[in-house]
Amino acid sequence: MAHTARGCFITLEGGEGAGKTTHVQSTADYLRQQGIDVITTREPGGTAVSEAIRAVLLNPDLPDMHADTELLLMFAARNEHLQRKIIPALEQGQWVICDRFTDATYAYQGYGRGLLLERIAELERWVQGELRPDCTLLFDLDVEIGMQRVRQRSVDQAVGIDRFEREQAAFFNKIREGYLMRAQASAGRFHKLDAAQPVEKVRQAIIEVLDTVLQQWRQA
Ligand code: TMP
Repeated sequence: MAHTARGCFITLEGGEGAGKTTHVQSTADYLRQQGIDVITTREPGGTAVSEAIRAVLLNPDLPDMHADTELLLMFAARNEHLQRKIIPALEQGQWVICDRFTDATYAYQGYGRGLLLERIAELERWVQGELRPDCTLLFDLDVEIGMQRVRQRSVDQAVGIDRFEREQAAFFNKIREGYLMRAQASAGRFHKLDAAQPVEKVRQAIIEVLDTVLQQWRQA
């Protein structure tokens, strides 16, 4: 049945090595099987300009970037991404699945770097207006397991460790706590998944969430 409403905005969040990127494609595939027109994207990134900003943000040769600069670059990349890609897609009725969004800014720059949450909220209001994700899947994982997975991936795929992945466990533990606090504060939007489980179990848990979101969207 054709649905003329705005598309749903779904974000995937979590610490390093939590496996969310693995699930972006299978989530989109499942939704397509249900007849949904869906695009996948990521932050920071998703457009040519935002990917160029991403390259600066993740560059391990720029270790001493000021935390405020990092925050502003995240929102600069986000503005471009929203204006050029996410908002037009949602307005055409497409669903958007985004690997990370503003919850990552609260978790990493707010809880991780220690920047004022109110400052992040100001930028969020400026750049996003009223736009917030409709549904957020939080991949929760023990920090040591996540760091181990990142190291293994770097060996298996012969890829370097980026500027964030070089941080220590204490930083990632603050991020995990930050995400969990945000999930508790917005329990209706967040769905916490145990990312230590095998991939297929996590996938099943995601499908359960998607079925509920689909049902609500079709009734809207
Ligand atoms: P990823 O593609 O591996 O998730 O890499 C993106 C990195 O950027 C990851 O370490 C988290 C970080 N990040 C922030 O610090 N703040 C943000 O707002 C976003 C979107 C990502």
